[in-house]
Amino acid sequence: SHFWAVVPAAGIGSRMQTETPKQYLNLAGKTVLSRSLGKLLAVPFIERIMVALSPNDAVWPSLPEASESRISTVAGGSERADSVLAALKALDSYAAPDDWVLVHDAARPCVQSAAISRMLITLADHPVGGIMATPIADTVKQVDAEQGIAATLDRSRLWAAQTPQLFRYGLLVAALEKALDAGVTVTDEASAVEWAGHTPKLFSGSRTNLKITVPEDLHLAELILAAEGE
Ligand code: C5P
Repeated sequence: SHFWAVVPAAGIGSRMQTETPKQYLNLAGKTVLSRSLGKLLAVPFIERIMVALSPNDAVWPSLPEASESRISTVAGGSERADSVLAALKALDSYAAPDDWVLVHDAARPCVQSAAISRMLITLADHPVGGIMATPIADTVKQVDAEQGIAATLDRSRLWAAQTPQLFRYGLLVAALEKALDAGVTVTDEASAVEWAGHTPKLFSGSRTNLKITVPEDLHLAELILAAEGE
């Protein structure tokens, strides 16, 4: 089967408190989006990458990746899941139901290409797919409305979900459509796939695959890339 990729990059990055959406902030001389796409382009299995962009996006045409033959773009939607679904549908003329599609956030530029390859190989025979994740290091508290601690969760069974998330193409489209129709909150692909009754696998990733969410994350990302010689 074939491997395709989807990159949601249509967010406005409200938590960054900057004019520029986070995918276009500068990270060691390139945009965050360029860095994320570079990691995917370095995985030769991936045949095409569909990038979901905001309809108001004026930056994309100036990126070097805009002229890359393995990359196409499509207009994203109002929530991340809408952007992912729009990009999946734009792959419809390429992808067969049993093909693999890898969804990777534009905001995770520190993922390692070698880790992506290992994940594709490890999950290759799985009927559903799986996600990159790391065990939670912190003890996690559940709070009440007044920020009082209501419960301490069992850390030994908690993992933090990252992207990439890899699923069979047909299964993922069906699960996302069903979940969005039902009004379920879908913050990652796995949550829709779980909700549809499947059991995705966890693939143990690295804590350095951080998501750029608040301004200080850019400094951490710069250190991580420098340590990896980029
Ligand atoms: O805001 P958050 O960190 O969850 O965004 C994750 C990714 O989803 C980002 O790469 C962002 O650009 C993308 N996104 C999107 N369409 C939206 C909202 C977020 O493609 N409507």
